[in-house]
Amino acid sequence: MSRMLPSGEHTLRVMRESDLDAVLVIEQASFSSPWKRDHFIHEITAPHSTPLVAECSGAISGYLCLTALFEEAQILDIAVLPEQRGRGVARLLLEYAFSLAREKGAEFVSLEVRETNEAALYLYERLGFLRTGRRTRYYEAMNDAVLMEKIL
Ligand SMILES: CC(C)(COP(=O)(O)OP(=O)(O)OC[C@H]1O[C@@H](n2cnc3c(N)ncnc32)[C@H](O)[C@@H]1OP(=O)(O)O)[C@@H](O)C(=O)NCCC(=O)NCCS
Repeated sequence: MSRMLPSGEHTLRVMRESDLDAVLVIEQASFSSPWKRDHFIHEITAPHSTPLVAECSGAISGYLCLTALFEEAQILDIAVLPEQRGRGVARLLLEYAFSLAREKGAEFVSLEVRETNEAALYLYERLGFLRTGRRTRYYEAMNDAVLMEKIL
């Protein structure tokens, strides 16, 4: 699947092990407790997981890890290369993940987001997620996790 965005043509495809050097650079630039290589390898091999990457001019511009089992799909991880942010890459990845989750029979998609992550909270609300709960001091015993769901 490809789409033209302000930064050029972005192609979405399933993540491969050969993407992981680029994925880990984005992951480390994006999170205070980044996933390690093994975590992504698990997602690449797990039967109910579909990790995706967006590629622009041969470089990884973002990625998303989706898992779908029975009626529930979950977004486990999403990040965009800092210089590609604000150009629709996350929206593109999420909309494609919603269509894959629907194909797999999911009825809703859930995720957790740090309460201080305003960009992500805004993104998810723009895409129709509703706040459904909270886990107190979930991140490094400091910040709450906001639980969100979207009906597919
Ligand atoms: C959150 C993140 C994935 C958004 O990626 P992105 O490609 O910049 O997002 P998009 O350009 O697709 O934006 C989609 C929507 O979210 C909104 N949005 C994105 N970043 C925003 C920001 N910093 N402030 C306000 N709104 C923002 C956009 O306005 C857009 O809505 P619109 O299309 O109606 O205008 C990116 O900032 C990122 O990688 N952050 C670090 C990792 C992270 O926090 N991941 C989420 C963990 S739960």
